[in-house]
Amino acid sequence: MPPAGWPELDVLTDALERSAAASATARWALEQTCLEILETLAEALESRDRYTAGHSRRVSNYSRDLARECGLFEDEVERIRIGALLHDIGKVGIPDAILLKDGLLSDPERAIIETHPAIGVRILKRTGVFVDYLSIVGLHHENHDGSGYPNGLAGVDIPLDARIVRIVDTYDAMTTDRPYRTRLPEDIARKILSDASGTQFDPEVLQSFFASGIVAAK
Ligand SMILES: [Fe+2]
Repeated sequence: MPPAGWPELDVLTDALERSAAASATARWALEQTCLEILETLAEALESRDRYTAGHSRRVSNYSRDLARECGLFEDEVERIRIGALLHDIGKVGIPDAILLKDGLLSDPERAIIETHPAIGVRILKRTGVFVDYLSIVGLHHENHDGSGYPNGLAGVDIPLDARIVRIVDTYDAMTTDRPYRTRLPEDIARKILSDASGTQFDPEVLQSFFASGIVAAK
C-alpha cells in the first residue's frame, strides 16, 4: 500500500495491477492458441494414416480417466489429458515410408521411429509455454523395468503421467485395427497388459487401469 496522501502512487498501483491482469489474460490466450495449433497438428498427423485416426484423442480420454482413478487432483488430471493428446506429436518428423510401412521395421527404421519422443520435446520446447507436457511427450515409451526408450528409466524414476500414458497407449494400439492385424478382443488385450505387469508397466497403475472401467471405444 502507498503512503496516505500520495494519490499518484494509487494511480500507478492501479495501472500496474490492470497491466498485470491484461498481461496474464494475453498469456492465457496465447497458450490456448498454441494448444489449438498443436492439437490440429496432432490430428493432421493422424490423418496421414487411417489406422491411427482418433488414437491421440482416445489415449487422451483414457489417460484422463486413469489419472482420476489414480486419485490425482483435477488440475493434474487436466494436464495429463492435454499431454496425452500431444504424446505422439513428434511423429510429424518421421517419414511416411517408415511411419506407414506395412511390414516389419528394420533396425535402422526402428531407430528412426524411436526418435519421435525427442522430436516431440523439441517441438514443445520451441513454443516455450508447454513445459508441463514434456514428461509425457518425452517419456511415454519408457518401461517399468528400464527396457524402454529413450532414456531407459525404471520404476518411479519414470514420472507418473508417462506411466499412465504408457499403459493406455498400448491398450488403444491393441484394441484398434492395424495394417497387419485386426483389433484384439478386450479380454486378450487385458491379458497381454497383465502379462507385462512389472516389466513394461507399473503394476500399481495397471491395477488402477483394470479398476477404472476403461473399455475400448467401438
Ligand atoms: Fe509414441
